[in-house]
Amino acid sequence: MRDNPLVLHVLGARPNFVKAAPVVRGLAALDLKPKVQQGIIHTGQHYDALMSDVFFADLGLPEPIANLGVGSGTHARQTAALLTGLEDVVGEHRPDLVVVYGDVNSTLAAILVCAKLGVRTAHVEAGLRSFDRTMPEEVNRIVVDALADILFCTSPEALSYLANEGVDPRKAHLVGNPMIDSLFAALPSLDPQPVRGRLGLPERYAVATLHRPGNVDDADAARELVDAVREVSRTVPIVVPLHPRGRTRLAEAGLVTGDGLTIIDPLGYLEFLSLVRGAALVVTDSGGVQEETTMLGVPCVTVRPNTERPITITHGTNRLVTPATLPAAAAKALADGSATPTGELPPLWDGQAGPRIARVIAAWLRGDNLAPAAAQAVRMTGD
Ligand code: UD1
Ligand code: UDP
Repeated sequence: MRDNPLVLHVLGARPNFVKAAPVVRGLAALDLKPKVQQGIIHTGQHYDALMSDVFFADLGLPEPIANLGVGSGTHARQTAALLTGLEDVVGEHRPDLVVVYGDVNSTLAAILVCAKLGVRTAHVEAGLRSFDRTMPEEVNRIVVDALADILFCTSPEALSYLANEGVDPRKAHLVGNPMIDSLFAALPSLDPQPVRGRLGLPERYAVATLHRPGNVDDADAARELVDAVREVSRTVPIVVPLHPRGRTRLAEAGLVTGDGLTIIDPLGYLEFLSLVRGAALVVTDSGGVQEETTMLGVPCVTVRPNTERPITITHGTNRLVTPATLPAAAAKALADGSATPTGELPPLWDGQAGPRIARVIAAWLRGDNLAPAAAQAVRMTGD
């Protein structure tokens, strides 16, 4: 290892930025000698200013040391561009550790490249499973967790899923949820009033985000979904900050501004969460938004047949719906308000995941990464 260990973070898509910010901060705050050096590699999977730059500004992330500019494409083409781009830049820097986040194609490519280059890796948000391999993310999760050297889990069931897949339990650590760390940090500046005013929304409104391929890629599925959303909008006005993936198909299916619906560009992180904080209801198919509504206590209906985040149902406000059940479920969620099954947040969703992850990485860099007693202590207490 070099004098100052080098940790690189590979980020590519909107949710990656939100999860990485607390880890970058946590590592920077460590009082270590020698100090850990860090850098961000931006793959460029997301590239619109509202899908990328605004997150660096809102989350205070440092400038990337490289942007690979891979852009969009089919899974094979995008992943191929990610593999070749990442092999060059990881090979050039030879970091001591690469940290990857979530389940996007950039995460998959980074883990493959590092495994072949012999560079060690940590996966933040390991062990989530929807058990639905038609989701590209599920395929990515399985491969990433099989190859990562350190696995950071956001919920207890993730530890057992990893064990069932034969992952050495000494690699896995329950650390809480860095996406929730970012939300805790943002909380004091989340004010619904200005964005609500700008969009001309009344006090009682709903927010919807839709981008899953299963909902937005197929014309029939998109039409069924849009009809259901329109029905809800007759009860409560809905604003939809629309992900670029759904833009064309959903507009063709009738998701256009008018009659209780307001369709806008994606929002920056702070504006979006301000809007969510003040909402009476969220309709979504996002992974991260299920977690954020759980923490904010905002009723959430998720238009998906399954979720890799069941803790948002058992400990949060989340409910799974189909387009057919969406209108009735939305009405019930509006009536129920922020009631949750336990009244408690998931364990360790306390804004301290970033520092916990940083401490495990520091211990690992020192070489005591696989001492079972130490690892066990981290897993059981979250310290
Ligand atoms: C990706 C992730 C998904 C995650 C989502 C977060 C994979 C396989 N999927 O899905 O898990 O939930 O990011 O938002 O990695 N586009 C733009 N501008 C951009 C980015 C994308 O216009 O800045 C459009 C392009 O038409 C592109 C499409 O969105 O083809 C899809 O982008 P891509 O990154 O391939 O997948 P997402 O649907 O964003
Ligand atoms: N988000 C945002 N602006 C938006 C929609 C979402 O800042 O217009 C944030 C949201 O608060 C969460 C993250 O983007 O932190 C979730 O990303 P996304 O839904 O694209 O991905 P997923 O979590 O489904 O992988």
